[in-house]
Amino acid sequence: MLRTHTCGALRIEHIGEETTLCGWVAKVRDKGGMIWIDLRDRYGITQLILEEGKSASTLLEIARSLGREFVIKAKGEVVERLAKNNKIPTGDVEIKVNTIEILNPAKLPPFLIEDETDGGDELRMKYRYLDLRRDNVRSNLVMRHKITKETRNYLDGLNFIEVETPVLIKSTPEGARDFVVPSRMNQGEFYALPQSPQTFKQLLMVSGFDRYFQIVKCFRDEDLRADRQPEFTQIDCEMSFVTQEDILNTFEGLVRHLFQTVKGITIGEVPRMTYADAMKYYGSDKPDIRFEMKFVELTEIAKGKGFGVFDAAPMIVGICAKGCSEYTRKELDELTEYVKRPQVGAKGLVYVKLNQDGTIKSSVDKFYTESDLRNWADLMGASKGDLLLLLSGEVDKTRSAMNDLRLEMAKRLGLRNTEHYSVHWVLDFPLLEYSEDENRYFAMHHPFTSPKPEDLSLFETNPKAMRANAYDLVINGVEVGGGSIRIHDRKIQEKMFETLGFEPEEAKAQFGFLMEAFEYGAPPHGGIAFGLDRLCSLFGGADSIRDFIAFPKNNSGKDVMIDSPSTIADAQLKELSIRVAK
Ligand code: AMO
Repeated sequence: MLRTHTCGALRIEHIGEETTLCGWVAKVRDKGGMIWIDLRDRYGITQLILEEGKSASTLLEIARSLGREFVIKAKGEVVERLAKNNKIPTGDVEIKVNTIEILNPAKLPPFLIEDETDGGDELRMKYRYLDLRRDNVRSNLVMRHKITKETRNYLDGLNFIEVETPVLIKSTPEGARDFVVPSRMNQGEFYALPQSPQTFKQLLMVSGFDRYFQIVKCFRDEDLRADRQPEFTQIDCEMSFVTQEDILNTFEGLVRHLFQTVKGITIGEVPRMTYADAMKYYGSDKPDIRFEMKFVELTEIAKGKGFGVFDAAPMIVGICAKGCSEYTRKELDELTEYVKRPQVGAKGLVYVKLNQDGTIKSSVDKFYTESDLRNWADLMGASKGDLLLLLSGEVDKTRSAMNDLRLEMAKRLGLRNTEHYSVHWVLDFPLLEYSEDENRYFAMHHPFTSPKPEDLSLFETNPKAMRANAYDLVINGVEVGGGSIRIHDRKIQEKMFETLGFEPEEAKAQFGFLMEAFEYGAPPHGGIAFGLDRLCSLFGGADSIRDFIAFPKNNSGKDVMIDSPSTIADAQLKELSIRVAK
């Protein structure tokens, strides 16, 4: 080793020892008589000190020539610091340097390599290798490492086996677009990159692996958001001979283990909520239940008083914002503008203020008596000082808009504290969703998800009403994982493909291998996949998953550092028989 210690290792007990450190120059302070150098590596920062008159003049010269981010090797004695720095673990000591060797000079970095950097997003991504020198970004990746390590520990302890599945595959219909890769040896044909290893893990169950997991890259060509990357990582798991209850318990255990070992947090009971209740009370299949503000439906009691908007609405729903009766005209206008944004899509907002002085004031006073409004307030569990916010319209749209408003209010009220965690399951998802545009059913989760046995007869009569043995794990309003009990019966799988509008030939061409496998002794099985990047960002208290991925893509799906995607040479295109429109 070139060094005896790291830059985070030295303490008071090392005083008097000779040490050799290697690292990057974070800062040089030259006060004439004294020169201090902050030397940084992944473990921390150690202060080096040189003194005019005591240190050799050649050494002082070298020290004065150092620029930020030079890579150096410094040798010297550990001494006690006169002015201690209690902000860093090495702050009790410094190194009285007697040699410095420049291992490599460095160009001036384009932004400050400090927690609070002056580098914008684009610049940080272009020089990601420098960004990764910053403590806060690197510590995110260290935490990610701990999460994967503890995941392996936990699952290995339960007899799960990690198996790698192929990356060049045939498309699996998870609902997003595939990234495809042309095959040179089979001209005109394409591989698809896996959106998940779904079919392979099911085949491994047919093979008898019984308990599989894989920490695996998945690829989806979909619109990107803060919590979506085109390539992301799943903790993908599957088990045989289990019920839904077994899966929920096993993976609740994983989440508990991760919270405990990585964050030191003990998770209490993990509540369960049906999809139907999640939609009814929160307007979302991934409600944030760190705070209450449940929806209350006023459809019955608010109609028939002459207010045309409500009278015509299939749904009227309200939330109670505690302690917000003092909201000003301006604040209420802001909220109205908020719900009218195209992304939210409401037509308007009705409010009722339960003033501290006992009076009541609403934006619909013309139509409703004080006692009408008090009835609403009673139903909503509201009291003096509260503000009721109501939306109306078509059921799904109104619930969705109210979900946005609920989250916005929680943000304004500081209720979305990233230090607090709420973990819960959402169960009993619908099996299918109907697309009006395409006039057909889609699998809500994926086509391999099992209907609830008691709903099987609805295939013939009312497919839309069928529920699935499917579950999502939600943390702080983020869908962290999702899975299901699978179909393991060829006939039911065929029925599912038929309901999804696949011609038998098409189903055979795409999934013949799976259906055939089901005829060679498929055990009952089920599983789940967690979004590792999302889990990391939640543990790190951040909204975006980007800073928990070493080399992420930007919102246009580009890696600006390596300039990808990019065009390829004509010769390469020719070899693949691909013609690109210029
Ligand atoms: P699903 O599609 O729900 O299920 O994905 C599982 C989890 O992966 C995460 N995730 C993403 N994370 C970052 N960027 C993305 N683009 C992205 N897409 C999904 C989410 C999600 O909960 N094969 C099934 C699992 C199963 O049935 O066992 C599947 O892939 O956290």
